[in-house]
Amino acid sequence: MKEFSFSTRIFFGEGALERLRKLEDKRVMIVTDRFMAGMGVPDKVASYLTRCQVTVFDGVVPDPPIEVVAAGVEALRDCGAEAMIAVGGGSTIDAAKAIRAVAKETLHIDTDRWECFAIPTTSGTGSEVTEYAVITDRAKGIKYPLDSKALRPPVAILDPQLTVSAPASVTADAGMDVLTHAMEAYVSKGANDFSDALCEKAVSLVFRFLPLAFQDGTDLLAREKLHNASCMAGLAFNSAGLGLTHGMAHAVGGKLHIAHGRINAMLLPHIISFNANLAGVRNGEYTVAAKKYQRLAKTLDLPAPSVRLGVSNLLREVERLNRTLKIPATLKEWGSSPEQIRDLREEMISAALADVTTASNPRPATAECVGAILQKLSGY
Ligand SMILES: NC(=O)c1ccc[n+]([C@@H]2O[C@H](COP(=O)([O-])OP(=O)(O)OC[C@H]3O[C@@H](n4cnc5c(N)ncnc54)[C@H](O)[C@@H]3O)[C@@H](O)[C@H]2O)c1
Ligand SMILES: [Fe+2]
Repeated sequence: MKEFSFSTRIFFGEGALERLRKLEDKRVMIVTDRFMAGMGVPDKVASYLTRCQVTVFDGVVPDPPIEVVAAGVEALRDCGAEAMIAVGGGSTIDAAKAIRAVAKETLHIDTDRWECFAIPTTSGTGSEVTEYAVITDRAKGIKYPLDSKALRPPVAILDPQLTVSAPASVTADAGMDVLTHAMEAYVSKGANDFSDALCEKAVSLVFRFLPLAFQDGTDLLAREKLHNASCMAGLAFNSAGLGLTHGMAHAVGGKLHIAHGRINAMLLPHIISFNANLAGVRNGEYTVAAKKYQRLAKTLDLPAPSVRLGVSNLLREVERLNRTLKIPATLKEWGSSPEQIRDLREEMISAALADVTTASNPRPATAECVGAILQKLSGY
């Protein structure tokens, strides 16, 4: 038996922030980062909360570590919050989810019944609808995906206007995270008809609108479509799971400090090739993943008369998109030294194998396979 459900109410499009006016007579904590605070984003959110007492916690940093979550819990206790609004990228929304969960445990507050809003300002993680929160353990250099239904935000507000200020590199990285979510969920062990439908739509939207939003961040139609794609891909992978791209991205990105979407983008062509396993085809029996990549190629109107051509054209299209977005193809191009990669190699391999997202990859991964992919990714 499989389940497809989502409990998050999604408000989207022009005027979606108006939903915040329903919060009345509450002590509200806005969770964000300093950069967003400097741009006046929490003030904009607070302007809808005229009947509430608002506190801003702006201590989130990218790839939020445990220490940020602890500081957020302290701020929550100090202001006596009764509701929470996270406004920012995936890092902010993840931190807010973890703060809410830890406050429930340690302060014995029934945060499950709180009104909580997730307002993404990047089109990337889909965190506004998922039951995951990725927290970094700085001491170990590892990212942990927490996973619990209780982490799902009750309300998501998708206002594309908030993403317009994202610089081109953030747009590119986050957009490739969306593509990776959709492409991994599409072939994952948990894929189903419901998640497939969302993946196909999200992949089409990313290929069409990500280059436009990258070239012109003020293109509001492109921003809106990407924001919707991000949320759809989030719903899809929340049901279907992810795969080895994310497993390796958490490991390699955590050790070499590469933005999540960027390292996903660099890994994705290698994992498509690994999953399709064209070299291992016997008697014309292709893997299910290879056949699904062919179907995805058809959805994108790429030539795909055979499985082999479908897979290679899809792969080429992903590589082409990476080049358009100026994403490096190798760790060498990104600036890692061969010594750095060699010294961290074993740790990265074992972290990738232990990562919870690797378990739903369609082709089982061994230390040898992960090592070989890492070698190709390195460019040395
Ligand atoms: N919870 C999930 O399901 C899930 C899924 C994938 C990734 N993640 C995690 O999410 C994090 C990445 O999130 P992200 O890609 O959204 O990036 P991010 O939240 O780390 O933000 C990146 C940078 O962009 C800035 N920024 C965000 N929105 C902006 C805007 N509108 N204008 C200008 N600057 C803006 C931020 O201040 C930050 O400096 C990683 O930690 C990753 O592991 C979580
Ligand atoms: Fe991701």
